[in-house]
Amino acid sequence: MKFILGLGFIVSLMASTAATKSTATATETTSEKKKPVFVKVETLKPGTHGHNLTVKVVESNPVKATGGGGGRGGRLSVNSRPPARISECLIGDETASILFTARNEQVDLMKPGATVIIRNAKIDMFRGSMRLAVDKWGRVEVAEPADIAVNEQNNLSLVEYELVNVEE
Ligand SMILES: *[C@@H]1O[C@H](CO)[C@@H](O)[C@H](O)[C@H]1NC(C)=O
Ligand SMILES: *[C@@H]1O[C@H](CO)[C@@H](O)[C@H](O)[C@H]1NC(C)=O
Repeated sequence: MKFILGLGFIVSLMASTAATKSTATATETTSEKKKPVFVKVETLKPGTHGHNLTVKVVESNPVKATGGGGGRGGRLSVNSRPPARISECLIGDETASILFTARNEQVDLMKPGATVIIRNAKIDMFRGSMRLAVDKWGRVEVAEPADIAVNEQNNLSLVEYELVNVEE
């Protein structure tokens, strides 16, 4: 009787050791250094973020800052910072293309013909269609020129989405 009890104790002790071990292994696996995942342009979807991509810049079109848009001009400058420089850049890879809204120093990096690595980019919606952008949590880097034949036929910024309000 005593023996069986003792064995049971040992067995359960072993089981709990095994459980602890497997938990430790699982933690190890998840905290393992993750390799950044790079995605293709065609996989971009509204409302998503955290994308890493390598793309080619096809064209860059500066967008005029505010003013002239029906306003009466002479907009009082509340802060002394110059307006953001914005350029709409068509970027893409062999799967698709999309407009990237480049701001300030990003404008200088997104030169037509440049190959760039975009990290932690997000999808913004502009009049129901997608734009790619990088905020302060992301990064744009000029890369070694790569031979990327941009698929301009599959222009994701031409796809219109119906905006539906979803309660959060
Ligand atoms: C994208 O790259 C950044 C920086 O290298 C990395 O921290 C992040 O985990 C990557 N994102 C994905 C989805 O792999
Ligand atoms: C892609 O779509 C955007 C948004 O409609 C448009 O401004 C741009 O000219 C298009 N580019 C090409 C190459 O079709």
